[in-house]
Amino acid sequence: MKPIRKAVFPVAGLGTRFLPATKAVPKEMMAVVDRPLIQYAVDEAREAGIEQMIFVTGRGKSAIEDHFDIAYELEATMTARGKDMSALAGTRLTPGNCAYVRQQEPLGLGHAIWCARDIVGDEPFAIFLPDEMMHGSPGCMKQMVDAYQQVGGNMISVLEVPHEKVSSYGVIDPGERKGSLTEVKGLVEKPEVADAPSNLIVSGRYILQPEVMRVLETQQAGAGGEIQLTDAMAKMIGEQPFHAHTFDGKRYDCGSKSGFIQANLALAMERDDMKDEIRAFAIDLLN
Ligand code: G1P
Repeated sequence: MKPIRKAVFPVAGLGTRFLPATKAVPKEMMAVVDRPLIQYAVDEAREAGIEQMIFVTGRGKSAIEDHFDIAYELEATMTARGKDMSALAGTRLTPGNCAYVRQQEPLGLGHAIWCARDIVGDEPFAIFLPDEMMHGSPGCMKQMVDAYQQVGGNMISVLEVPHEKVSSYGVIDPGERKGSLTEVKGLVEKPEVADAPSNLIVSGRYILQPEVMRVLETQQAGAGGEIQLTDAMAKMIGEQPFHAHTFDGKRYDCGSKSGFIQANLALAMERDDMKDEIRAFAIDLLN
């Protein structure tokens, strides 16, 4: 079985839900405590053994490239002043470890992934949607890669949401469940609540076989008039094994304002340098 060496990060989205914060700053650069969202996703990929990070970017997203580059003035100045540089750990990707490709038009997540087809080539690959923050140890992708080594094929992470929320997500039709893996019998993008096959939603982590790129080639627009990754994946069910993995950890939907605030609070409460102060403040605020 070929190892998962490459990951695609679709980061071309306009981030309209966070305006005006995201007018000039990519939403992926918004920080949870002191690390940008995209950094958490890249750290999770690295922990899972992934070597090459492929960013599908767009206009106005150059801060992401700068973030993963050498910050020459910053590093030189900090070194000269004898400052601790540990906060910069993991922020430098070498040219061999990253690639950038532009999605020129906002045609949907499926189209964004397809933009990376030449860099992905003919091997299985991972996808990370960075506004879904998966927090735990081992990380979500590491858990998925371990499970993938047993079953191969295609794998998506899923989690349960209240039934009335399913229309914002891709939803699976679940089959048999064994441990953390559930067979995927069907997939539908943003169904009406009444039509949803379950309340198990696709939560932003994928391991897919390269054939999905061929399916995306001719994929028509679906929900919201966009080319949907979910629709392309649905066509692969029955052709290749397809499993959903339930993450043992915590998920924060940082694409929503309340999820983003929750992530900040939760992670701040885990930090030795801040937790006492934040806890005291939160208690005070609630009173
Ligand atoms: C995308 C996917 C959807 C998935 C969701 C997770 O939707 O299309 O299947 O459930 O991410 O956040 P979007 O949030 O881009 O509308």
